Amino acid sequence: MAIRIEENPKNFYLETKNSMYQIQADSRGVLKHIWYGRRTGRDMSYLLDYHDVGFSGNTYDAGEDRTYSLDTMPLEYAAEGIGDFRVAAVAVTHGNGGNALDLRYESHRVYRGKEGIPGLPYVYAGDADVETLEIVLKDTAGEVRVALRYGVFEELDVVTRSAVIENCGPGPKMLTKAHTVCIDMPWGDWEWVHFHGRHTMERQVQRLPLLSGIQESSSKRGASSHQQNPTVLLCEKDCTEDRGGCFGAALMYSGCFQTQIELDQLGQVRLVMGLHPDTFRWKLEAGAAFYTPEAILSWSDQGFAGLSHQFHRVIREHVCRGKYKLAERPVLINNWEATYFSFDEEKLYNIAEQAAKLGVDMLVMDDGWFGVRDSDSSGLGDWYVNERKLKGGLAKLVQKIRGLGMSFGIWLEPEMVSEDSDLYRAHPEWAIRIPGRQPMRGRYQLVLDMSREDVREYLYEAISSLLRSADISYIKWDMNRNVCDWYSTLLPPDRQGEAPHRYVLGLYELLERLNTDFPDVLFEGCCGGGGRFDAGMLYYCPQIWCSDDTDAYARTKIQYGTSFFYPVSTIGSHVSAVPNHQTGRVTPLSARAVTAMAGSFGYELDLNTLTEEEKEAVKDQISRFREYGPLIHNGHYYRLSDPQKENRGIWSFVEKDQSAALVQGVLFHAEPNMVGHPVRLKGLKKEALYRIRETGEVYTGAALMHGGILLPRGWGDYMAVEYYLETVEP
Ligand code: GLA
Repeated sequence: MAIRIEENPKNFYLETKNSMYQIQADSRGVLKHIWYGRRTGRDMSYLLDYHDVGFSGNTYDAGEDRTYSLDTMPLEYAAEGIGDFRVAAVAVTHGNGGNALDLRYESHRVYRGKEGIPGLPYVYAGDADVETLEIVLKDTAGEVRVALRYGVFEELDVVTRSAVIENCGPGPKMLTKAHTVCIDMPWGDWEWVHFHGRHTMERQVQRLPLLSGIQESSSKRGASSHQQNPTVLLCEKDCTEDRGGCFGAALMYSGCFQTQIELDQLGQVRLVMGLHPDTFRWKLEAGAAFYTPEAILSWSDQGFAGLSHQFHRVIREHVCRGKYKLAERPVLINNWEATYFSFDEEKLYNIAEQAAKLGVDMLVMDDGWFGVRDSDSSGLGDWYVNERKLKGGLAKLVQKIRGLGMSFGIWLEPEMVSEDSDLYRAHPEWAIRIPGRQPMRGRYQLVLDMSREDVREYLYEAISSLLRSADISYIKWDMNRNVCDWYSTLLPPDRQGEAPHRYVLGLYELLERLNTDFPDVLFEGCCGGGGRFDAGMLYYCPQIWCSDDTDAYARTKIQYGTSFFYPVSTIGSHVSAVPNHQTGRVTPLSARAVTAMAGSFGYELDLNTLTEEEKEAVKDQISRFREYGPLIHNGHYYRLSDPQKENRGIWSFVEKDQSAALVQGVLFHAEPNMVGHPVRLKGLKKEALYRIRETGEVYTGAALMHGGILLPRGWGDYMAVEYYLETVEP
């Protein structure tokens, strides 16, 4: 059984193959977080050793005991206003204006399986894979009840968390903080890793020692953002890719979020994660309940690689859904960087025709096909085809593309509206703006109020009639600005603080409806590249365009950071033209190809512009991807170098049964008189013999893992490397 319970004191053990999460309801009903880490099989609360700490007060029911303080003990769901002065997980303003919340154990239940969360994405599984623990806490004044829900995935080494906060008092209350995760680590020497960046440079890895006080990574942008990602790692100081303890948390949410880590006065660590409180106020009527988004937690003592494998598996198998969840994805050609806004049906057909000859599966028609859209200053919202550009209409074009043996995909940016559009002229009130103020523009555009049912209905009608009008197999769902000026004309003043979360709920509702009604359509998420790359979006879109930066050198770093939590199949990546449109850098076609293959593969250039030799190379890349694709998407992914620090970006995919491996990467900057540089492989069978296809050489797994493969001496910058290894009989 994954969940074990002991009485006196009441201990809850959430045990997975290699981890243990322990919670204790003490004699006063306070719910303590005792442990998250290696599986020990015993009560770890013997490690708690508290004394009287000055200025850390004591609960009233502790009487004379000055050692019993909420400010010093590890708590499972810390509430505001009752003497725990560290960052809180939950805060409420009651009807009388006070904000104390003293949550104590009331009851619990355990059951096989796992329930969904109304309106929100969640980690789904059948009864055989998961067991749920629900612990209910009740405020000592009887005002609020909180149900903490834990899904324990024994085999996956994963624990999920979410909370339901219910107003059980007589009148309305304001929920001002409703985090999902609260974990206290009283022992250990921890560092934290987070993923920061900007547009065209997402998810750069930063590993930092903890400083006394609070450190934070968050987004108030209405999207999970390019700047920070809703994922975080806490690791032991000596943790590396291959060994050491670490745990990770990924919030399944696509809007404003906050992760805070506090190193307290006693050197203890608290991590909280959930909705960003600066953009959140939620009015709870008497009897009403609020559901927090879910978070995925996982612990590994096999270093970052082990942790990544656990996250890759749970996201690929229990978050992503639909027909394409485990299926090979079509190799696509996208016209954006080939044409920008300037195209017509003939230009698209020419691009597709050449692509079809080289083996590409799908044409994706990007921005510019609808309304009046010759630049980014108009047309958003008018989701009907511009027949001036696509003469004869969409169905005819799609039919012609189908005639080439290709499928067809289309770009949309449903959440947005241009002021110069028929939609805005008809419904200016649908755009988010605060009455009496001018809204901020971003890329000239305004944002539709996704919390409004009429807005969602309009979008559903527009998108579903588009999908019914032609044989469309794919949608690229974009979002090209962040949101501020939060206000929804349909909400009363005391509910305006709900607008940011209601926006995300509205987005999810629309995506859910389209996923249900069009199960054969592949949705690819996008937000100016990877500005909304999170486990929430992956529930609706099994792949996300990773970055608007397609430069092979920069991409190795972006994909390196993305790989800590997100599986390779979710990472949209394309070969584009050189000089690169974001950096001006020139990299060989082979380097662009190996980088793009480490994802859901495609091209983003006019293949007609390539030389005959390059076209042959593209053909070869596609056939290699067809052969290696299943290994790339289903194998274990290993980071073999740190491209942020080393002069190369190398990674590998290893078959789960260790019978084959693919090593790929880019050697960055050539240097003269370089000595050979080996790269050590990972995850192979020590005693097995592996033959390298490209060289014919045979080595033991042990030699390849301890000594490595000798990489070629670089000649010219950004040289691609690729080796396919298979086991052979001795
Ligand atoms: C965003 C996307 C790009 C492209 C443009 C179109 O920036 O990330 O791939 O679709 O929008 O405007």
